[in-house]
Amino acid sequence: EVAPFRKLVTEEQVKCTLAGRETSAHKGKAGRALVIGGSLSMTGAPVLTGEACLRAGAGLVTLGVPESIHPIVAQKITEAMFRRLSEDQGEITEKALYKDMDLSQFNGLALGPGLGRGNHLPLFKRLHSFEGPLVIDADGLFHMAEELSDWAANPRPHPTVITPHPGEMARLTGLTVKEVEKRRFEVAREFAAAYNVYVVLKGPFTIVSSPDGSQWVNTTGNAALAKGGSGDVLTGIILAFLLQPHSAIHALCNAVYIHGKLADKILETHDLFSVNASDLIQMLPEVIRSSR
Ligand code: APR
Ligand code: MG
Repeated sequence: EVAPFRKLVTEEQVKCTLAGRETSAHKGKAGRALVIGGSLSMTGAPVLTGEACLRAGAGLVTLGVPESIHPIVAQKITEAMFRRLSEDQGEITEKALYKDMDLSQFNGLALGPGLGRGNHLPLFKRLHSFEGPLVIDADGLFHMAEELSDWAANPRPHPTVITPHPGEMARLTGLTVKEVEKRRFEVAREFAAAYNVYVVLKGPFTIVSSPDGSQWVNTTGNAALAKGGSGDVLTGIILAFLLQPHSAIHALCNAVYIHGKLADKILETHDLFSVNASDLIQMLPEVIRSSR
C-alpha cells in the first residue's frame, strides 16, 4: 500500500493518462451519461453540462429536466436525448427520481447543475444503488447535505464525486467559508475519507482528494472562470472522463487540468472579462487534442 501524498497535476501526467478510443468503439461503449438538473430559473446549466460531456467524449448524453423546461433546453442542444421529469414550481420532485427514471440504462450520472433548492429531494436511497460513477454538484450538494449521515454509513461500490466550491463545502461541513478556505487541504481530505467520496474542491488551485487521503492540486485556469456556468462545464467534463476505462482519480485530475486549460487557451483571443462558459466548451476539441 502506498502512503497518501500531495502532488501537482502535470502536463506529462495528463498525456499519459488521457483515455483513447478503440477503433471498434461504438456509442454505447463510449459511455451513456445522464445529467439531472435544470429548473425554470436555471435552464442553461444542464445544457452546459451536457454539451461539455459530449465534447469531452461521452457516447450518449441524456438530460433529465423538469418537463416544463424541456422545450427550452431541447432548443439549445442538438445531440442530447431527454427525460421529462415530474416537477413542482419549475423544479424536479422526489417522484422524478424515484418513479420517472430507470437509472440502470446509464453508465454514469451527474446531478445538480441548475437543480434548485425549492423541493425536498432525498437523493440517498435512489442514488446509492446506482451502478456507475456518480457526480454531485451545485444544488445536488444542497440536498446531499440534508442526509449526510446516510452517505457516511453506506459507502458506494462505485466512485462518488462531489464538486463543491468553498461555499458548498462550508455547507457540507458546517464550517464557515473562511474556515474552509484557510484549511482547504485538511477539510477536503477529511471529508473524502469520512464519506468515502472523491472531493473536487474548486477555486484557483482546485484540489482533488481521493478517499485514501491522496491529493492532487491543479495549476491551470485563471480568473476568466469566475463567471456563472464555468462549474457546470467542469461537471460535464468530469462525467465524460469517468466513463472512460481509467481510474477515477486520473479522470478527475485530467478533467480539472483540461478545464483550466480551456480558460488559459482562450485568453489568446478573448479578454479576461469576455469568456462565457459556452466559449469554454468550444475550446474543448482543440485543448483535448493538444493534451494527448
Ligand atoms: N481562478 C481559477 N479558477 C477559477 C477561478 C479563478 N479565479 N474562479 C473560478 N474558477 C473555477 C473553479 O475552480 C470552478 O472550476 O471556475 C469554476 C467555478 O465553479 P462554480 O463555483 O461552481 O461556479 P458556477 O458555474 O457559477 O456555478 C453555478 O452552481 O455551484 C452553484 O452556487 C453556484 O449557483 C451557482 C451555480
Ligand atoms: Mg457550480
